[in-house]
Amino acid sequence: MNLKGRSFLTLKDFTPEEILGLIDLAADLKAKKKKGITGSSLKGKNIALIFEKPSTRTRSAFTIACVDEGGHPEYLGRDDIQLGHKESVEDTARVLGRMFDGIEFRGFKQENVEKLAKYSGVPVWNGLTDTYHPTQILADFLTLQEQFGTLKGLKLVFVGDGRNNMANSLMIGCSKLGIHFTILAPKELWPDETLKQECEGYAAEAGSTIVVTDDTDAVSGADAIYTDVWCSMGEEALAAERIALLRPYQVNDELMAKTGKDTTIFLHCLPAVKGNEVTEEVFERYADVVFDEAENRMHTIKAVMVATLGD
Ligand code: CP
Ligand code: NVA
Repeated sequence: MNLKGRSFLTLKDFTPEEILGLIDLAADLKAKKKKGITGSSLKGKNIALIFEKPSTRTRSAFTIACVDEGGHPEYLGRDDIQLGHKESVEDTARVLGRMFDGIEFRGFKQENVEKLAKYSGVPVWNGLTDTYHPTQILADFLTLQEQFGTLKGLKLVFVGDGRNNMANSLMIGCSKLGIHFTILAPKELWPDETLKQECEGYAAEAGSTIVVTDDTDAVSGADAIYTDVWCSMGEEALAAERIALLRPYQVNDELMAKTGKDTTIFLHCLPAVKGNEVTEEVFERYADVVFDEAENRMHTIKAVMVATLGD
């Protein structure tokens, strides 16, 4: 796997082998870190961390991963820089590209992370946009691999807002790696048809299926039930409407029992709004695996930076 100089904007741009290669590299870096071994592959590299939206895990993961590998991270929050307000994204990109060796971007528009990559000339990593959250998927898959020893052939059901950044990115990642993928959501929140068709193409190649349904019986046989907040960052005004639509899709004991398996795990990208998308009981029962998943953000983000920018 040679990803040197590449950006990480969406999993669409990566082959199944490249995605698996990043997960393997992350597992290796994680094992080393547990033994107290860190690297120096980002020595002398300066990394910009642009955050238009708040973050606990992604910011911490990029910062720690960068420092572990000997690099220097610089946090640029929404009120710190001019991006897209007083200065065009293209101009900010050209300035940062002259000074930094790599750029992380968390924000609203996918178009902006793509412009940053195009105009900066350095690797750019998507730390979440309204449309995609690709680094999260690597952490989710590393966690699934740790739990089940394999990925291909598993069944993952995403329950909730079926057209948000997590649903979109899980659909791409699962279909590329041959994980059977179901979105369980009310019709109003089903994913974009064009994206679904694109993913059906990946799934056909990988030998897996994609199902989009509003029938809760679809969780039958699931190896993992995944949920996310009902209102993503930037959509707070829609809270009442979303709660009304999604209340029947809460991940609770009853829904977990419908899988018919006692080996099913629960995953959540976090932050979680307990009492909405998941009950306190279900969340706490699977807390160990959910916080492994959160920790894995750091190891997988480190793998992305090492693979695309490291020596
Ligand atoms: N899962 C995730 O991206 O968390 P943060 O919003 O805290 O970065
Ligand atoms: N869909 C959520 C993901 C948070 C990690 C959001 O965009 O707020």
